[in-house]
Amino acid sequence: MRTPVVIGNWKMQGTLADARALAAGVRDGVRRLKDVHVGLCPPFTALAAVGEIVAGSPVKLGAQNCHWEDAGAHTGEISLPMLADLKCTYVLVGHSERRREMRETDDWINLKVRAALRHHVSPVLCVGETGDERRQGLTFTTVEGQLRSGLAGVPAEEVGRVLLAYEPVWAIGTGVNATPAQAAEVHGYLRGLLSELASKEIASTVPILYGGSVKADNAQALAAESEIDGMLVGGASLQAPGFVSIVKQAAHRVAPARSK
Ligand code: PGA
Repeated sequence: MRTPVVIGNWKMQGTLADARALAAGVRDGVRRLKDVHVGLCPPFTALAAVGEIVAGSPVKLGAQNCHWEDAGAHTGEISLPMLADLKCTYVLVGHSERRREMRETDDWINLKVRAALRHHVSPVLCVGETGDERRQGLTFTTVEGQLRSGLAGVPAEEVGRVLLAYEPVWAIGTGVNATPAQAAEVHGYLRGLLSELASKEIASTVPILYGGSVKADNAQALAAESEIDGMLVGGASLQAPGFVSIVKQAAHRVAPARSK
């Protein structure tokens, strides 16, 4: 079974002092947990400080974005060598907020995925349909396009170093999460595509996280789905106790009794 991964995406929130307190709370709260990977993606201004707070603990550092070039004249951007220097384990790539607000294209997202792999930072490739696309029956078409273009040119053996996050846009920050069954259906579809792009063996190792209004009170039901390998948590990652509760539920996932 794949080890669950729970990543907090703090987005553009909080001061340095807030970040330090939150990181320390998460680090202490998850200290005794086994069989779960935990990542924190603070704003860039807090990345180094959070890195110091979680150093030596099982909590890993992640960034919310990156540029694909190693260095150069790219005002306002952060490169993979900079993230690797801070010992980032994860980098979010293609989050729907960046696709929408910053007009990130599939080509850029692909360049970022490949740059992250080159620098041994694990890309968390985010895919997901809008509410309109779901209503029009285009969910699979959308996520398939995003997955294929995001991983274009990535050799099969490298696919095993990628994480996916299925984040339906209509569920992000809305309080309306996808049901465990809705998420599991898309996760299964994505895993099938990964088998085709790489191999069944490699696909079976790739964590596919769910994101979109994950909270302490819906985490257990989501985590119980065998196709859901953890969560990418936005709003509910901003309070340590709630986030720690989500991590615990992912770590102690219990599959529902179900006849097949
Ligand atoms: P949310 O955000 O948990 O606040 O819905 C999830 C995300 O955008 O990663």
